[in-house]
Formats: sequence, C-alpha cells, structure tokens
Amino acid sequence: MSSPPPPPPRPPPLFLSLSLSLPMLLLLLLLLSLPPTNPHAAHSIKQAQMMLMDPPEKETLFRIMEAMSSDRDWRGSTPDPCSPGSSWPGIECKPSSADAYLHVTRLDFGASPNPSCRPNATFPSELVFDLPFLQSLFFFRCFTSAKTTLSFPLQGPPAYASLQQLSLRSNPALLGAIPPHISLLTSLQVLTLSQNHLHGSIPRGLGDLTSLVRLDLSYNSLSGPIPPQIAGLKSLVGLDLSYNSLTGAVPPAIGQLPLLQKLDLSSNKLTGSIPESVESLGCLVFLALSNNMLSGRLPDGLQKLQNLQCFIMDDNPMFAPLPAQLGRLANLQELRLASSGYSGTIPGSFASLSNLTTLSLENNNLTGEIPAGLSGLRRMYHLNLSRNMLSGVVPFNAGFLRRLGRNLDLGGNVGLCLNDSESYESAHAGVDVCGDNSTGAFAASSSSMQKPLAWGSRWSFISSALWILLSIAGSHTLMGVWEWYYVLL
Ligand SMILES: *[C@@H]1O[C@H](CO)[C@@H](O)[C@H](O)[C@H]1NC(C)=O
Ligand SMILES: *[C@@H]1O[C@H](CO)[C@@H](O)[C@H](O)[C@H]1NC(C)=O
Ligand SMILES: *[C@@H]1O[C@H](CO)[C@@H](O)[C@H](O)[C@H]1NC(C)=O
Ligand SMILES: *[C@@H]1O[C@H](CO)[C@@H](O)[C@H](O)[C@H]1NC(C)=O
Ligand SMILES: *[C@@H]1O[C@H](CO)[C@@H](O)[C@H](O)[C@H]1NC(C)=O
Ligand SMILES: *[C@@H]1O[C@H](CO)[C@@H](O)[C@H](O)[C@H]1NC(C)=O
Repeated sequence: MSSPPPPPPRPPPLFLSLSLSLPMLLLLLLLLSLPPTNPHAAHSIKQAQMMLMDPPEKETLFRIMEAMSSDRDWRGSTPDPCSPGSSWPGIECKPSSADAYLHVTRLDFGASPNPSCRPNATFPSELVFDLPFLQSLFFFRCFTSAKTTLSFPLQGPPAYASLQQLSLRSNPALLGAIPPHISLLTSLQVLTLSQNHLHGSIPRGLGDLTSLVRLDLSYNSLSGPIPPQIAGLKSLVGLDLSYNSLTGAVPPAIGQLPLLQKLDLSSNKLTGSIPESVESLGCLVFLALSNNMLSGRLPDGLQKLQNLQCFIMDDNPMFAPLPAQLGRLANLQELRLASSGYSGTIPGSFASLSNLTTLSLENNNLTGEIPAGLSGLRRMYHLNLSRNMLSGVVPFNAGFLRRLGRNLDLGGNVGLCLNDSESYESAHAGVDVCGDNSTGAFAASSSSMQKPLAWGSRWSFISSALWILLSIAGSHTLMGVWEWYYVLL
C-alpha cells in the first residue's frame, strides 16, 4: 500500500505573495483554486476498509485451511488472515481496485515455512477455485499418503480466469490423469506438475493455454504422443516433458514455438528422427533428448540454433555419422552424444567450439584420429571419448592432459596411443604409450619405466630408480603398492 499523499501546503497569506515571482504566483493561484479537502480523513477510512476481507471469501479460505492443514486453529489464531500482523507464511493478499477489500492472491502449502499438509489432505478443487482473485497456487510434497487426483469443477468458478501459476510438485499420492478441462484456466502462465504419479496422455486442450510461459510435466508416468496442439503455446519459454513414457515422434509442430529457450524431452520412448523444424527454434539455449529411441541423422538445420549452449542427446539408436555442421554452434558449452552408435570420424570442425567445456562421445563407433584442434579448446575440462574405435597418436600436449586430469577418458580405443613424453600426465586416460601393446594406465607407466630418460621429468628418474631397487629386492607386494601410488598421482 502506498503511503498517504502529503496534504497540500497551506497557502501563504496574500500580502507575502507580492514579493513572489510570476511562476510562483501562478502556482499559488492554482493551489487556491483547489476545492478544500481533508485527504487524511478520507484515506484512513479507505485504509480501514482495505484491511478487511470479503466475508464469504474469508470463510472459503478458512475452509481450505482446515481441510488442508492442522498446523493451528486457523480461525482462532488468525481471525484476519490478510492483515499484515495476523498472517502466515504461504499466504499473500492484495487489494483490488474493483472493491476496497483485500483478496487472497497466493496460497502455498507443503514445505516449511508454509503450512504443512494433513496426511489425509486431498486436492481441494471444490474450494480453492472459489477464491476469486487467486493468482498462484503451490503444493509441494503435500499429497503424500491419501490418494488424490487433479480435478477441476466444470462450471468455471471465479479463479479460472485469475490463476496464473499452478504448481503441484513432488506429491507421490497425486494420481490419475491431467483432466482435459485444465484448458479452462485461461490465464495460466506457469504450470508445473513435476514429480507426481500422473498417468494417461497429455491433454490436447493444453494447447489452448496461450499465456503459458513454462510447462513442466517431468517425472510422471504420462504416455501417448506429444500432442501437436502444443504449437498453440506461443509464449512458451520452457517445455519439460522429461522422465515420462511418451511415445511417437517429436511433433514437427514444435518448431512453431518462437520463444522456446529450454526443451527437455529426455527419458521417454520417442521414436523417429529429430524434425527439421527444430531449426526454427532460434532462442533455444538448452536441448535435451537423451535416452529415447530417436534415430537417423541429426538435421542439418541444427547449426542455425546459434544460441544453443547445451545439446544433450546420449543413449539413442542414431547409427549415423556426426555432422560437421555441429561445429558451427559457436556458443555450445556442453555436447553429449554418447552411446548412440555414431560412426565415422570426429569432425575437425569441433575444434571451432571455443566455448566447449564438456564433450562426451563415449561408447560409439567412432573411427579415425582425434582431431588435433581439440587440444586448442581452452575451456574444455571434461572429455570422454572412451569405448570407440579411435586410432593414432593422441594429439594432446602435456598441458592439456594435466588440465583435464581424471576428467579425460580415452580408454577402450585399442588403436589409440600416447606419445611417450606425454604419458606421465595421462596416467588416468586409459591409453598405452605408442609402440607398446599391453593395456591400461599401469602399462603406460611400466613401459615408461623401461625408458626412463625419455620422460623428461625428475619424478620419472626417482620413480624408475625406486622401481629398479624394488625389482632387485624382488618385493612384489611393495611393487604393487608403488603402482597404486602411481595411479593415485
Ligand atoms: C482428516 O482427518 C481429520 C482427523 O485427523 C478429520 O477431522 C478430517 O475430517 C479429515 N479430512 C478429510 C478430508 O478426510
Ligand atoms: C563464449 O562465451 C562468452 C562468455 O562466456 C561469450 O561472450 C561468447 O560470445 C561465447 N561465444 C563464443 C563464440 O566465444
Ligand atoms: C559398431 O558397428 C558395428 C557394425 O559396423 C555394430 O555391430 C556395433 O553394434 C556397433 N557398435 C556400437 C557401440 O554402436
Ligand atoms: C609425438 O612425438 C614426436 C617426436 O617426439 C613428434 O614429432 C610428434 O609430433 C608427436 N605427436 C603428437 C601427436 O604429439
Ligand atoms: C566415460 O564414460 C564411461 C562410460 O562409457 C564412464 O564409465 C566413465 O566414467 C567416463 N569417464 C569420465 C572421465 O567421465
Ligand atoms: C605386440 O606384442 C606382440 C607379442 O606379444 C608383438 O609380436 C607385436 O609386435 C607387438 N606390437 C607392437 C605394436 O608392439
């Protein structure tokens, strides 16, 4: 509430104005011409009224609180729940311009400090939508034991037009389907139904919620296709349908969401290839499609997603080559395309991804040499190329190997080998020194032991001297300890 406007200053006696300048005189005349008022008194009446709630609305609120929470005697301890001193965390009231009352605009249940939910609490659909000014409704870890479903009364109660945020998250006892008439909540901007036990398909009517900015249905058991009607969500910035059992293709209509920044469809059962239309998602920053059954080539238009920072698409039966165009995604920081049957070589163009910090291509069928340019990626700190069919000399210098340390994994590529001088820095990368055909980091170390002077490091001299001593002593146990110490380095 704004503070009362200061009362207009009392006009000075007229004779004083004789010495005033012309503008001041005009101001004086203006003030004198104002009708006499008593703004103080008028305001305090309004203020008194605005501390009140409309009695029927207050009764509805108490009935909701009593049904949901046994934290306290709501009527007795908070007779005026909207007045500042007599409120609780998790409720918010605002004055309305339509009448002089305070109205409940937000209710938050479940997690401390908000009211906790009774074990037998169920979704209070018959009551909660009767709060005519409700804008935000949150239930977090609220419905945990008594089975309940989402339901919306059919005859549009008052809150249908006002509700902007509806969030039901981590409610294991929330079951059943998302009812189709969720589309009656026409002002909805944020809809979060994540981490519940919802079943059934995504209602097509969801596409009518044209004000929706964020839609999160992740971590449920939703099945059936992604309805193409989501193309109606023209304001959508975030779409998360991950960790469900959605089937069918990624609908090409998804390309019609011009503001989309985050698209997460991971861990479903989606089939087919990525639609060409994704190239229209020019605002996309985060794209995750991991753990589906998507196949075929990545669309050429992917390179148009110039804002993309994360492209995460592990575990899909792609069985295609890696397109060189991926190297044009200049803002890419994280690229994960592991376990997807990619074949052919790692495109040299990946060396242009100057912002790349993570590259995961492990467990594919990649062949050929590692592009030397990758060693120029200064922000890289996690590189996993393990379990491919890569070959040739590892093109990374000692500095690069030292920087990545244990975050570099090149193991399981039988044809790869390390230049001898670099082997000390890559004891954990899982590659042999060139010319040796035993496997693993131990082999890399022991082979270096045989040629200590090639090491170029004082450690190498000390360690090989020790090695020789131990060999002479014939103490196999101690040698094992030394090898472990070496690995831990
Ligand atoms: C929940 O249990 C309380 C008693 O613990 C009871 O008074 C109340 O009516 C029950 N509410 C519902 C919705 O079953
Ligand atoms: C990389 O990131 C920096 C900031 O982290 C940003 O300024 C730059 O535009 C990004 N893109 C490229 C191509 O370097
Ligand atoms: C690699 O390719 C071969 C055939 O070329 C195939 O049998 C095998 O499953 C592929 N391996 C992986 C991990 O994709
Ligand atoms: C490996 O070492 C040799 C000589 O020490 C050098 O000529 C060659 O460029 C190195 N290769 C790589 C990939 O570092
Ligand atoms: C690389 O990927 C494999 C899975 O193929 C995983 O076991 C290993 O821990 C990863 N290495 C690193 C350093 O992330
Ligand atoms: C690998 O070891 C075998 C004998 O075990 C040897 O015949 C072969 O030449 C070795 N290869 C290399 C590249 O050292």
